[in-house]
Amino acid sequence: MVSLDSVDTFHFDAIIIGAGGAGLRAALQLAKSDQRVAVVSKVFPTRSHTVAAQGGINAALGNLTEDNWHWHMYDTIKGSDYLGDQDAIEFMCREASEIVRELEHFGVPFSRTEQGKIYQRPFGGQSQNFGESQATRTCAAADRTGHAILQTLYQQNIQAGTTFFDEYFAIDLVKDELGHIGGMVVMNIQTGQYQLLRAHAVMMATGGACQLFKTNTNAKINTGDGLAMVLRAGLPLQDMEFWQFHPTGVANKGMLLSEAARGEGGVLRNGNGEAFMVNYAPHVKDLASRDVVSRAIAIEVKEGRGCGPNKDHVLLDLTHLDADVIKKRLPGIREIGLTFMGLDMCSDPIPVYPTAHYMMGGIPTNFNGQVVTLDESGQSVTVPGLYAVGECACVSVHGANRLGGNSLLDIVVFGRAAASEIERILKLQKPASFFDKALELSSVEARLNKWEAKPDVNAQTESTAQIKRDLQTVMQEGCGVFRNQETMSTLIEQLEPIQKRIDQAVLQDHSHAFNLERLEAFELENLMTLAYATVHSAIERQESRGAHSRVDFPQRDDENWLQHSLYFQQNHQLRYKPVCLTPLTVPGFEPKARVY
Ligand code: FUM
Repeated sequence: MVSLDSVDTFHFDAIIIGAGGAGLRAALQLAKSDQRVAVVSKVFPTRSHTVAAQGGINAALGNLTEDNWHWHMYDTIKGSDYLGDQDAIEFMCREASEIVRELEHFGVPFSRTEQGKIYQRPFGGQSQNFGESQATRTCAAADRTGHAILQTLYQQNIQAGTTFFDEYFAIDLVKDELGHIGGMVVMNIQTGQYQLLRAHAVMMATGGACQLFKTNTNAKINTGDGLAMVLRAGLPLQDMEFWQFHPTGVANKGMLLSEAARGEGGVLRNGNGEAFMVNYAPHVKDLASRDVVSRAIAIEVKEGRGCGPNKDHVLLDLTHLDADVIKKRLPGIREIGLTFMGLDMCSDPIPVYPTAHYMMGGIPTNFNGQVVTLDESGQSVTVPGLYAVGECACVSVHGANRLGGNSLLDIVVFGRAAASEIERILKLQKPASFFDKALELSSVEARLNKWEAKPDVNAQTESTAQIKRDLQTVMQEGCGVFRNQETMSTLIEQLEPIQKRIDQAVLQDHSHAFNLERLEAFELENLMTLAYATVHSAIERQESRGAHSRVDFPQRDDENWLQHSLYFQQNHQLRYKPVCLTPLTVPGFEPKARVY
């Protein structure tokens, strides 16, 4: 039996769970302000999923074409299908140019123009002059921008003295006797030992959860651990119905082929060789926002204009581009085509289909990264000591659909902002007596002990890996690019037996060192929690908005649904709160129809 009463306990000012770009930018800020900060990461930090971000980071630097942050803000609001909070969006777009220059000064090796400025490329949904013409806003380090940023931030943290718990898995948040978040239980993956980490401030930076879907661009580690921890702590998740399917995943496999390919001039073609995007977005064509392009591909395939023997994909065609441009600007995705398809995009079009890429929803926060919930009377209130940043957080700057290049921006802007807020609060109060309070550990002990049960030699047992595959399959079928009442009702029925299978599952391997079966069992529980959050949030929202595309409710309905959903785990309860339509300083962005 696991008891947490006498496990090793460590104390910090702030603990950050997750070592992607958001967590590392936050940690750097805290370490530089002499706070005792620790980062917990289930993989070595530079293997965090930020490493896979390809195309770039948005900032209105205007290095190639004229630009300004007002246009960036307008595009982000419009791209969000008006569900984004406009105070937070303004905050992010105003900070963008300065924070990209800060990254440059930290040492990020951005690609360069002839004049030596940071190279920028056009991405979907970007415009000059409030929708008039295509902008060129995405700052890039070839097609390995996330890799460049993550390595640089890690090096900066090493220099600043951040403490790292590498290959530690965060199991659950724990509250103290006063009901405050007091720390967390973690497992040292190398030894299998449990430990307690306590801190005045806890920050969730655990990234996304697209492992919930069968085809996805995400690392295997993206299982939504932080999000599920927050739900188990009795707090809500916001806008969980909005999952972005990136238009160009390698067909039937899912790996990302960056939007940068279309930014550099690539074109999508159907089985008749037609560049079909002109029929869906006559002005911006292949650089329409991702929700629009993904739906267009799905429709082409559904209506029989797909490619290949099964007509189940379309082609990403770059063959008309100069091969030297592809080799210089897109070396990473050329390599993906070669490795996974045996195709060289300099001479061969690549089969693609939409693939789960990003969650717009997550842990609700304000733009200082403070986690918020609703009180009894429906007012937004902050949760003392708890912060969230990056993909696991819902600020909400992406609303119902994120623009490409805004994710890397989100992580560094809000990573820094949340850390500054923690620093401010810790300077005001850091009571030593905080660590004297007893922690409530019984519910997490019960979870851990469930997985201690030994297999019955006569019983049929199944692997958690198989259960995960089945969960991913039903989620993709029931809650993919298109949804309706029927597919989602069926999905809810399908989730029940999967939940039972998890409840009955037993580990075959009870060893301690690097027991990945135990780790994957925890991850599966987390994914299951998010499956329920997704389908219940999605079935309630009776409209189509951004990435939530309901065949039975095809229109956006601002009268009834211009609001954020908040899902609580207990009884799958849903509550709603208004979208912030008031920018910090810029008057009036009225919701209106999106025209492409
Ligand atoms: O297509 C891409 O390079 C992805 C970028 C993003 O999701 O921001």
